[in-house]
Amino acid sequence: MVRFLLALTALAFTALAQTAPYNFNEAKIPPYTLPDPLTLSNGLKVTDSKTWLEKRRPELLALFADQVYGHGPAESAPLRASEVFTDRKALNGKAIRKQVTLYFTEDNAGPQMHVLLYLPAAAKSPSPVFVALSFNGNHTVDKDPGIAANEVWLRDPNDISGSPNRKWVHLLPDDRTRGQFAANWQVEKLLDRGYGLAVVYYYDIEPDFVGGMQYGVRPLLVRDPDSWSALGAWAWGLSRTVDWLFTDRAVDQRRIALMGHSRLGKAALWAAAQDPRFALVVSNESGKGGASLLKRGYGETTDHLNTAFPHWFGPNYKQYTGHPEKLPVDGHELLALIAPRPLYVASAVDDQGSDPKGEFLSAVNAGKVYQLFGKKGLGVTLMPLPDQPVMHDIGYHVRTGKHDVTAFDWDQYLAFADLHWGANQTPKPAPAKPETRRP
Ligand code: GCU
Repeated sequence: MVRFLLALTALAFTALAQTAPYNFNEAKIPPYTLPDPLTLSNGLKVTDSKTWLEKRRPELLALFADQVYGHGPAESAPLRASEVFTDRKALNGKAIRKQVTLYFTEDNAGPQMHVLLYLPAAAKSPSPVFVALSFNGNHTVDKDPGIAANEVWLRDPNDISGSPNRKWVHLLPDDRTRGQFAANWQVEKLLDRGYGLAVVYYYDIEPDFVGGMQYGVRPLLVRDPDSWSALGAWAWGLSRTVDWLFTDRAVDQRRIALMGHSRLGKAALWAAAQDPRFALVVSNESGKGGASLLKRGYGETTDHLNTAFPHWFGPNYKQYTGHPEKLPVDGHELLALIAPRPLYVASAVDDQGSDPKGEFLSAVNAGKVYQLFGKKGLGVTLMPLPDQPVMHDIGYHVRTGKHDVTAFDWDQYLAFADLHWGANQTPKPAPAKPETRRP
């Protein structure tokens, strides 16, 4: 009986969390108009990079903060760092592993984030580094026994209600998950190609559930934490990670790449839009609220984002539930804020919720801002075939398979970084053939 009642409660909660089904039919996309990144709020057109940088870019940044990701602190000093724990012979001598704790307050026992940094041991000069947030503890990134295991947040295993509102608990480090997500990170591949990797478990910055805010940085940094957002806080954490990377002479400050998957891709794009130290940016299936076009009524909706993840976006985003057409911005403008830095957008065929074509069109439309800088943008307007990357100033691929980060994805990001920064230790791979078919 108790189980039955619990099941009923679970059903009721599920119904509450349910939103209108996504549209997956191209023929049923209502007509939509994308805002023009090159039209100033006073109606004048932007025709040069100076006006873009001095006038339009600040306008767009303010719009994204006001309407989408909320307002973080006006300024942030680098975080206080612990001693750095270094092993110069990690991964059988292939890597230098460094681990540091960055404290959010003066209290060493208070909220903090843990950075895991791998650098190629063979490097003769400062290394380029990919920075990324991880969905799971740092120790899941590789089997390496030297990675300090994180405390993690999980849904309370004793709560069997199945309710989306069920409790979360903070659990002690669990060594059984060491290396569990190594396939998503490809640490040795990066190192072999001359790249470092810096990872932070995103729950350290703010745990990702309704009510998680009280355990994260938001209440510590802004007077009204509800005027910011979880995505905003994660983006902030990425910039604080770079503050610390900049203190390490073995890191090449001019070649900091940022990679983010899914919700962490949304956070990565917002971080890169605000922080020019991210010199190359990769959005891996960041979807709606990230690279994709919300106004293109295909895949995930504002309705779903605001219902399933009400803590992700700032307070004004709620008014766009069911009304993406009213949003004054869209994904292509978030991408445009990264111009003229190299930018790669990736989709997956079976990740239709993210709307691969919406991600592609967003990359195409960001191109006109790249062109202000004499760059080419994506260089194609027809969607490439699956697994056929296109790489210019903007890169794009749609991989076969599901919502994930795979070795194939990393191969493209490394080739893209080599293309723009010069290969470190391997010959530069030729950019893959552009598209051949109409989407
Ligand atoms: C959900 C959500 C997406 C998000 C994804 C993820 O599917 O609807 O917007 O990108 O989670 O982060 O894995």
